[in-house]
Amino acid sequence: MSAATPEHIMQVGTGFWASKTLLSAVELGVFSALADVPADLPTLQKKLGLHQRSARDFLDALVSLKFLQRENGIYSNTADTDLFLDRAKPSYIGGVLEMANARLYGFWGSLTEAVRTGELQNEGKGGGKDIFATLYADPDRLRGFLSAMSGVSAGAAQAIAGKFPWRDYKTFMDLGSAQGMVPATVARAHPHLTGIGFDLPPVKPVFEEFVAQRGVEDRVRFRAGNFFEDPLPKVDVIVMGHILHDWDLAQKKALLGRAFDALPKGGAVVVYDAIIDDDRRENAFGLMMSLNMLIETPGGFDYTGADCQAWMREVGFSKTRLEPLVGPDSMVIGLK
Ligand SMILES: C[S@@+](CC[C@H](N)C(=O)[O-])C[C@H]1O[C@@H](n2cnc3c(N)ncnc32)[C@H](O)[C@@H]1O
Repeated sequence: MSAATPEHIMQVGTGFWASKTLLSAVELGVFSALADVPADLPTLQKKLGLHQRSARDFLDALVSLKFLQRENGIYSNTADTDLFLDRAKPSYIGGVLEMANARLYGFWGSLTEAVRTGELQNEGKGGGKDIFATLYADPDRLRGFLSAMSGVSAGAAQAIAGKFPWRDYKTFMDLGSAQGMVPATVARAHPHLTGIGFDLPPVKPVFEEFVAQRGVEDRVRFRAGNFFEDPLPKVDVIVMGHILHDWDLAQKKALLGRAFDALPKGGAVVVYDAIIDDDRRENAFGLMMSLNMLIETPGGFDYTGADCQAWMREVGFSKTRLEPLVGPDSMVIGLK
């Protein structure tokens, strides 16, 4: 047995220091500023509006965390931060970090209360509106949330485009598509497909702008609706990404049942999330995502692959399987 050390405990216990250092750097636009041109301390201090007392420690902390490089006093982005955290690039995934900074960082401060009471801790605390109504009432928050979803789903979208047997199908729909990262990525990779992004009405302009930027607006259309109530379009494949975990068990099964009813014989449902390992001890991100759903929703929770496959079979899918995607994400495929 290895000797006990406090290292892991301290690293996780102060993990919010590192997290907030990165989130503040994104908020201040550090990586966008350095993407234009590497810079020395006085230049960056002025450009970013940093105080003299904190500028050096803040930037060098980012160097030590491997988000910046410093050579001969000149700071520059790393390859990762330059590609993913420069707002000017289409590969920017900082939307999710902007949302983590502006909303989740504060709400997670009430985690203890959440685990004691089982009550959500976001804008809806104390009986406010549901999360989507709250977010979508403000156009900036709407855009921020939808762009955050693209950041969360970029890797999974690539993996789904590569791993699912799309050549066997012609049409698909992404149910709860947000900005359209998954349908745009899948359509770009498979020119024979036509797709639909289905989401609440306020999402339409943001979706249409995003798919046009990616050059697939002729094959990927938006359909406005409520996925619990409105008729679902008839397509060969229905994708649900980060949807089931938002809802309670009855709602999860209702959505899977509606997908089953909308699909033709031979059609498929593809559910992806940070799906928890069946033994519930490995996928820490998936388990903490479930705590995030506790903070964010009245009844949402994340689930294992075995849970999801059992629900799919209960609503009628005949064959189901789990496939890992990327990082903590996996997909469960159900065939009708
Ligand atoms: C957590 S996001 C997931 C977005 C996207 N699938 C992804 O993985 O990046 C949930 C999406 O469901 C949409 N949504 C929530 N309630 C809905 C409803 N009743 N009908 C249709 N869409 C809904 C939201 O607008 C949001 O875009």
